[in-house]
Amino acid sequence: CCRVLVLISGNGSNLQAVIDGCDDNVHAEVVGVISNKPDAYGLVRAHHSEIDTSCVIAHQGETRSDYDIRLKQAIDKYQPDLIVLAGFMRILTDEFVQQFEGRMINIHPSLLPKYTGLHTHQRAIDAGDNQHGASVHFVTPELDAGPVILQAKVPIYPEDDATTLAERVHEQEHAIYPLVVKWFSQNRLIMKDGAAYLDSKPLDVMGYA
Ligand code: GAR
Repeated sequence: CCRVLVLISGNGSNLQAVIDGCDDNVHAEVVGVISNKPDAYGLVRAHHSEIDTSCVIAHQGETRSDYDIRLKQAIDKYQPDLIVLAGFMRILTDEFVQQFEGRMINIHPSLLPKYTGLHTHQRAIDAGDNQHGASVHFVTPELDAGPVILQAKVPIYPEDDATTLAERVHEQEHAIYPLVVKWFSQNRLIMKDGAAYLDSKPLDVMGYA
């Protein structure tokens, strides 16, 4: 069984989707949830599902590398096979990321490589785009730049604001993230030489990215 550890900072609706996706037919189990925020609602969701939780709260003035060392210690206790970033809103150091190469995935609310970073929904609207979406990717040291595994597209309508658009994107996130976790748990998904492969086929060539 694939031991999945989910890192969150907030609501945890993607955490919930991953928990719900790890049903009897999927050889994956969410063995723990780590939050950098003690009041993250995702911690309540974890408790409802009887999943162990930890908080790793940044100390005032703490360097990123010191924080990441404590985070690594908290992670190691769960011995995860896969680390799932689900709205974990911290930038991670290169050293930290390198330790989990090919075993850490993130979901980002844009059609990467468009709109890395924050405020993606408003930026897509401001740019006049007529489509937007979400991307699941392997985490590499460069922020939001790791190889894309799966994307979901949504239309942008003229009457949309960042809130209505975010809702539409969220719905798709909840569909694609559990699917990627399932692929990983089936040993079908790997990262090699900076590219993602499903069943040994490069994903960008298959037209997902
Ligand atoms: C999600 O939309 C996710 O894509 C985004 O945060 C939200 C978390 O929602 N992640 C990022 O912006 C990462 N840079 P959730 O807590 O309800 O899953």
